[in-house]
Amino acid sequence: MVKNHIQAAAEIIKESKYLIALTGAGISKESNVPTFRGEDGLWRNYNAMELATPAAFANNPSLVWEWYSWRQGLIAECEPNPAHNILVKWEEKGILKTLITQNVDGLHRRAGSQNVLEVHGNLWALKCVSCNYVGMSNAPALGIPPCPQCASHLRPDVVWFGESLDAGIIDQVYIELNKADACLVVGTSALVQPSASFPLIVKKRGGQLVEVNVEETSLTDVVDVHLLGMAGNVLPSLDSLLD
Ligand code: OAD
Repeated sequence: MVKNHIQAAAEIIKESKYLIALTGAGISKESNVPTFRGEDGLWRNYNAMELATPAAFANNPSLVWEWYSWRQGLIAECEPNPAHNILVKWEEKGILKTLITQNVDGLHRRAGSQNVLEVHGNLWALKCVSCNYVGMSNAPALGIPPCPQCASHLRPDVVWFGESLDAGIIDQVYIELNKADACLVVGTSALVQPSASFPLIVKKRGGQLVEVNVEETSLTDVVDVHLLGMAGNVLPSLDSLLD
């Protein structure tokens, strides 16, 4: 592993034939979206962690919605930052094939990324707890939204503790991991499975890994290049080396 060798990272990206990216909360930090485990992280507040469970929703759906509505309000005020924008540019140039994100803030799509796999769902997505209804909301929830199909409760379509990821999305993720010859890992603590193991799958198949983070993570020892810094600075610098 080499540290802070931005030229080496640029070479990996330039030489790749099928680059994918895995992003986490750190890429949205400079857009003012809170991370989960950092200093002001959402999970620092133990009560918040307790809200992200199916049991919490069954016991007190209003309280859970109050918290999600607050988060929806927060992200409605946020804008994509230069790191999101560089990933859009690389997709448009054909350099980046797929973006796998653990983020539920929707900022990659808002920035303009098309080929996005949101493995933990999206804060604006809704699904019914009783029937097969799924939909999107465009404003923070006021109370518990009713299902337009069966009048039961709608819940946020995000993955909660104890739940499995959407099988269809995970299938697509594995197809991409098996095509990738390089993976850029940005702003994730790499502590949550299965996402933390995605880059390892690429590596095992002989692919190269570049990590961008303001700290070292459990992946740092196995990546080819680790770039220490804020995503909103590092990605534009990398981009300037590609032309
Ligand atoms: P974490 O909060 O665990 O980690 C955020 C990472 O971003 C840390 O490693 C930070 O060092 C890094 N970071 C912070 N600011 C940065 C910046 N400006 N540039 C680059 N890196 C920066 O967030 P995730 O790894 O995304 O799941 O967490 C994974 C999952 O855990 C989340 O999707 C969420 C949570 O439980 C669900 O809610 C299902």
